[in-house]
Amino acid sequence: MSLKVYEATCTAPINIAVIKYWGKRDTKLNLPTNSSLSVTLSQDDLHTKTTCRVSPDLKDDHLWLNGKEEIIAQNKRLTNVINEMRAQRKRMEENDNSLPKISDYNLHICSNNNFPTAAGLASSAAGFACLTYTLATLYQLQLDNVQLSTIARTGSGSACRSLQGGYVAWEMGEKEDGSDSHAIQVATREHWPEMQAIILVVNDTKKKTSSTLGMQHTVATSPLIQHRIKHVVPKAMEDMKKAILNKDFDSFAEITMRDSNSFHAVCADTFPPIYYMNDISRAIVNAVHDYNAAKAALGSAQKYTVAYTFDAGPNAVLYVEKKDANNVLGVISRLFPAAADNNIYERFTFNEKEVDEVLAKMSTPVYQQMNAFKRIIDTKVGDGPRILAKEFNENVSLLKANGEPKELL
Ligand code: DP6
Repeated sequence: MSLKVYEATCTAPINIAVIKYWGKRDTKLNLPTNSSLSVTLSQDDLHTKTTCRVSPDLKDDHLWLNGKEEIIAQNKRLTNVINEMRAQRKRMEENDNSLPKISDYNLHICSNNNFPTAAGLASSAAGFACLTYTLATLYQLQLDNVQLSTIARTGSGSACRSLQGGYVAWEMGEKEDGSDSHAIQVATREHWPEMQAIILVVNDTKKKTSSTLGMQHTVATSPLIQHRIKHVVPKAMEDMKKAILNKDFDSFAEITMRDSNSFHAVCADTFPPIYYMNDISRAIVNAVHDYNAAKAALGSAQKYTVAYTFDAGPNAVLYVEKKDANNVLGVISRLFPAAADNNIYERFTFNEKEVDEVLAKMSTPVYQQMNAFKRIIDTKVGDGPRILAKEFNENVSLLKANGEPKELL
């Protein structure tokens, strides 16, 4: 006789910060030195999908990430999240005798990203948000997404912002136990649905310093980060919230670009310095400023049409409103040409006349090296985590009926 299986499958989105989290005041609880703010991107394009199952049948805890087993006990971030979710379920069971005692059962977790790790996108945010959300669904915890964000945070800081859709602030909080360091929604996706993101995945082979280590070196060695924490970010957070509520793209764009520059400045002020951006990244920065000036010269009422931001790597994320996205990409396609056998621009059709018009006002030279980008992802602001199934459903589950993963590498 097969024993009862409890299972849930969910997806969670990635988010790209417009005010960056960089620095921890508590490395154990993952408490930040400054608040941050991000845009959640559409799960229709990029997401992590996770299945969690408990059953008296399972002999041990196991976790598979993109088809490869991860040893849970060796990963502090995973144990932080899993132990806390189990403890929450146990408390519920202790307070309500009618609940099945599933907190003692072993757990199988299978998690896949729908984008290759080689795309260079931070996947830990979607991954830990999805793990937290799927365990909460499985264990039927009575916690809202703000409360869940404090748990996802202990897995990866930026993950706390992926528990909400739209425009999300991670308020750094003051308490030592971290209970007020959580993510809250500033505005829904529906409030400003025109917001689009173009992710330019830059060709680069350099091994980068991880965010976790990089930010700790910055806090330990950079005098400039103190200025950023105390005098730059608090005002930027307030101004950014206003910009979003007013759908004021000019302010949104300027704060976004300034904050990206401020973050990379504190990386350069780290000793020894950390450089995440490369020559292609810097060429994109120049092109964006030049593009904005050209559009203004051509009579645009906006000071900025497009904004760049860079995380802990060379890839650019361009924020742009829907009406301008195609033209921006058209100009990018001319300034950063692809070789004849490279089809990254092929799925787009550009209005070449309008592209020519903007280019004629720009002075940025064509980037001399072909194929600056590995991949281009065009996406938009999206919603928060989704529940795909609250029980075993073989069409949706990442696990087979026997609890083993469907796909292994
Ligand atoms: C540059 O969230 O990856 O993307 O908390 O150590 O897991 P850990 O760091 P992580 O750092 C993200 C840094 C960033 C900025 C941001 O997303 O706010």
